[in-house]
Amino acid sequence: MRKWIVAGNWKMHNTIAESIALARAIKEGFSGSANGEVVVAPPFTALSAVGDALKGSAVRLAAQNMYSEDKGAFTGEISPVMLKDAGCACVIIGHSERRKFFSETDDGVNAKVKKALAAGLKPIVCVGETDEERVQGVTQSVVGRQVRGALAGVEKLDDVVIAYEPVWAIGTGKVATSAQAEEVHAFVRGLIRELFGAAAEELRILYGGSVTKDNVAELAAMEDIDGALVGGASLKPDGFLGIIAKMP
Ligand code: 13P
Repeated sequence: MRKWIVAGNWKMHNTIAESIALARAIKEGFSGSANGEVVVAPPFTALSAVGDALKGSAVRLAAQNMYSEDKGAFTGEISPVMLKDAGCACVIIGHSERRKFFSETDDGVNAKVKKALAAGLKPIVCVGETDEERVQGVTQSVVGRQVRGALAGVEKLDDVVIAYEPVWAIGTGKVATSAQAEEVHAFVRGLIRELFGAAAEELRILYGGSVTKDNVAELAAMEDIDGALVGGASLKPDGFLGIIAKMP
């Protein structure tokens, strides 16, 4: 049985004070579960404070991005060592917003994934097709290229999580149907089986894109959907706790 993961990606939202308040509300509302794990990814400026606020809880801390070097003259970047120092257990890598607005490539994502693993951070690697790509019928080739690219040279999958986030479903309220999502999740697991063998059965593949407490149960019923990466609905305690409550 793969343990479900509900991860909240706060994106560029929340001051430190707002982040602490949200973290406290989540901590109060989630006392731990045998079925699943809960992760929150605040902005960099709030990581340390949220880490403190979450002490003694089962909620784990993630960053939304990192650079692929430990330290050096890379103005404006944050290293995996710094993320560990701030209390992070996980890091989101290759989110479509980073690919789109900050020109992240499959090679760059790959370098970050390898560096995160070497530093003891669990990467949540995001993949997903755009609306145009879906219409053109190239969803599997795009997602396949992103998965192969992100994991090139990775030896062990133990600490890797993949998040399938169709770009057209992000922040649009247009959630993929459970059948659409399952089709891609099953494809990804099949590809991982080809690349890594039996480890594919343990790999968690999260779905992201307009997940809410009202649609998560249908997604959770799918064989190859092992969690949710949540944007908008993770910014309010009710919305996020409502999703957590539906973990299968
Ligand atoms: P929304 O849940 O707001 O669609 O965002 C999804 C996402 O991008 C999570 O990383």
